[in-house]
Amino acid sequence: MKFLAVIASLAATCLAQGITIQTSTNGTVYPGQNFTVEVTKPARAFLLVEATPSVEVAIVIGLVQCPDQNCNSSGFNISQDIGYTLYYGPYNPQYDSIVPPDHKPPYQNFTVQVPTQFGSGDEVALSVTRLALAEMAAGSSIWLEIPWVPLTVQ
Ligand SMILES: *[C@@H]1O[C@H](CO)[C@@H](O)[C@H](O)[C@H]1NC(C)=O
Ligand SMILES: *[C@@H]1O[C@H](CO)[C@@H](O)[C@H](O)[C@H]1NC(C)=O
Ligand SMILES: *[C@@H]1O[C@H](CO)[C@@H](O)[C@H](O)[C@H]1NC(C)=O
Ligand SMILES: *[C@@H]1O[C@H](CO)[C@@H](O)[C@H](O)[C@H]1NC(C)=O
Ligand SMILES: *[C@@H]1O[C@H](CO)[C@@H](O)[C@H](O)[C@H]1NC(C)=O
Repeated sequence: MKFLAVIASLAATCLAQGITIQTSTNGTVYPGQNFTVEVTKPARAFLLVEATPSVEVAIVIGLVQCPDQNCNSSGFNISQDIGYTLYYGPYNPQYDSIVPPDHKPPYQNFTVQVPTQFGSGDEVALSVTRLALAEMAAGSSIWLEIPWVPLTVQ
């Protein structure tokens, strides 16, 4: 039984929570800057498998100023306010066609622009709201997640 429990916990660590966000920035952006948001979906080939297969419906990319210039503030709740909408629409992650293969999970790049309303020193949260359908034997259920990463406006 102990053995099974260890296997189960190892398996659990391989089940990714959902999409991940990377940007072409070093964590600092300026108003008006165009940058790439790379949204990656876990894939079976990488042992980063979602608990159930999913069908992508849409994503929304937002940028919001964090309260108290601190995205760790207890007053900050991304699900209440994603701020400026930088992109909304389909999400269609694909393996890239790089030769030789670079062994990346499927992803899609979005080019977005930092709104000029932000000011120097602002701490902002770049979020990707993902709406998907988790496909289970009994039917589909809604999968909604809002991962985000902090950025600093210079
Ligand atoms: C997607 O964006 C990342 C980060 O900027 C970059 O490394 C990668 O080459 C881009 N992929 C494509 C297909 O443009
Ligand atoms: C990021 O790069 C910009 C200029 O390219 C620089 O001013 C800034 O200090 C860098 N930020 C970090 C966190 O390295
Ligand atoms: C960002 O992209 C927009 C639309 O493509 C373009 O008009 C603008 O000049 C770009 N801004 C910068 C700073 O490159
Ligand atoms: C916010 O929390 C993260 C992770 O705990 C930490 O790395 C980061 O330095 C914190 N940022 C601020 C502004 O406190
Ligand atoms: C954030 O807001 C959502 C929606 O209003 C709520 O369900 C959730 O409990 C809040 N989370 C925290 C940590 O307050």
